Amino acid sequence: MKILLLGKSGQVGWELQRSLSVLGEVVALDRQGAEGLCGDLSDLPGLAQTVQRVQPQVIVNAAAHTAVDKAESESELARTLNALAPGVLAREAQQLGAWLVHYSTDYVFDGSGDRPWLETDQPAPLSVYGQTKLEGEQQIVASGCRHLIFRTSWVYAARGNNFAKTMLRLAGEREQLSVIDDQIGAPTGADLLADVTAHALRHVLPPVGHNDLVQPGIYHLATGGETSWCGYARFVLEAAAAAGVTLKAGPDHVIPIPSSAYPAPARRPHNSRLATGKLRATFGLSLPDWRQGVARMLTEIF
Ligand SMILES: NC(=O)c1ccc[n+]([C@@H]2O[C@H](COP(=O)([O-])OP(=O)(O)OC[C@H]3O[C@@H](n4cnc5c(N)ncnc54)[C@H](OP(=O)(O)O)[C@@H]3O)[C@@H](O)[C@H]2O)c1
Repeated sequence: MKILLLGKSGQVGWELQRSLSVLGEVVALDRQGAEGLCGDLSDLPGLAQTVQRVQPQVIVNAAAHTAVDKAESESELARTLNALAPGVLAREAQQLGAWLVHYSTDYVFDGSGDRPWLETDQPAPLSVYGQTKLEGEQQIVASGCRHLIFRTSWVYAARGNNFAKTMLRLAGEREQLSVIDDQIGAPTGADLLADVTAHALRHVLPPVGHNDLVQPGIYHLATGGETSWCGYARFVLEAAAAAGVTLKAGPDHVIPIPSSAYPAPARRPHNSRLATGKLRATFGLSLPDWRQGVARMLTEIF
C-alpha cells in the first residue's frame, strides 16, 4: 500500500504522518517537495506529475490555504490551493483508481439557525476561504474519483500555535479578556482527525475493508458537544487554575462579546455545528466530547 500525503507539516498533516504509517508506505511531502517530487499546491502540472510518478493507492491532501482573513485579499492563490489543486489530485486519482482523502470546513455554510449542519444541507459560504473550499469539494465530486471529504471545524493541535495557547498568553498579560460568544462550534483535534482518517481508510482498503462497502462522499467530522470561543477560553483558564498555573485573568474574567465587536476581513458563520451521525454510522466510530481532547492537549502544555 502506497499513500501520498500532501501538507505533511500542517496541524493535520503532522498527525497523519503518525496515523497513516501503520497502513503502508507513506510518501509525505510539504510545499518544498523531496527527491524530485512536487508538494507545492500552486504548481498544478508538478502536482499531477508527482501523482503519476508515485502511483499511490491513496492520496491524502492535508495542505490548503487556511489563512481565512488573508484569503479575502489573496483570492486567486486561495482558489488555486483550495479548489484547483484538489481538482488536479482528484482527476489523477480517478485515472489511477486511487482513493482521495480531503478536508473541508464548516465555513462552506452561512452559519444561519442553530441546528447542526447535515451533509445534505445547502452550502452558502460567507468568505473567500469558504467559497474556495466549497469549489474544491465540487471539483473532487465532479472528477468521479473515489473520495472521502471530511468537513471539520475549529482544528487545533498541541504542536505550534493554537487558540488555547493564545488565551493562556493573554491571561498571563491582562486582567480581562474579551472573547466572541456568538460563534458556536466544536474544537476538533488534529490527532482525532488523523486517527479517524486511518480508521476510515481501513474500511475502504483491502484486505480488511472493501471499496464497495463505503459510499464515497462528504462526511462531517467534529467532536461531540458544542461551545463558543468564549466558552472555550473559559474552559482553558479553568483547566489552568486547576493545574495551579498562575495567571492574571481567570475564567470569570473572560468577557463575552459579539462578532460585530471584533471586526475581521472575513465573515465567519455563527452556527458552525456539524451533525456527525453519517460518519459515526458508516465507520462504526464514536466521537468524544470536545473537552476531552482540549484537556489532553492542555496537559501537554502545562
Ligand atoms: N484549521 C482549522 O480550523 C480548520 C477548520 C476546518 C477545516 N480545516 C481544513 O483542514 C485541513 C488541514 O488544516 P490544518 O488545520 O492542518 O491547516 P494548517 O496547519 O494551516 O496546514 C496547512 C498546510 O498547508 C500548507 N500549504 C500552504 N500553502 C501550500 C502550498 N502552496 N503548497 C503546499 N502546501 C501548502 C501549509 O504549509 P506552510 O506552513 O508552509 O504554509 C501547511 O503545512 C485543510 O484542508 C483545512 O482547510 C481546517
